[in-house]
Amino acid sequence: MMPMLSVTTRDGSVRALDGQVGLSVMEAIRDGGIDELPAICGGCCSCATCHVYVDVADLALLPPMGADEDDLLDGSPNRTDRSRLSCQIAVFDGLRVTIAPED
Ligand code: FES
Repeated sequence: MMPMLSVTTRDGSVRALDGQVGLSVMEAIRDGGIDELPAICGGCCSCATCHVYVDVADLALLPPMGADEDDLLDGSPNRTDRSRLSCQIAVFDGLRVTIAPED
C-alpha cells in the first residue's frame, strides 16, 4: 500500500497525496503537483524553502531534527514548535502537514 499523506496548502485546502516509500515529504509534495515549496536547494538541507508544520499528533512519530535543520529553521520568522523542513522527513502513511507561510 502506498503511504497516503495529507497536505494543507496555503489557501487552506487539504490534498491527499500518494507518496512513494522512501521519498521525502518535500518530494512527495512536489510530485503531487503542489507548487508552494520552492525547495531551491533540492533537498540538501541548505535553503529552508521547504518549511512545513507537522500535525501535533504526528510530531512524535518523526525522528528528531538534526542541528543543520534546527539552525536553518531558526532563520525563519514563521518557525513554530511544529516546524520541520520537509526534505528532512520521510513520508509515512497518515502523516499530516501544512505548508508554512512564505518567509
Ligand atoms: S529543500 Fe532546501 S532545505 Fe529542504
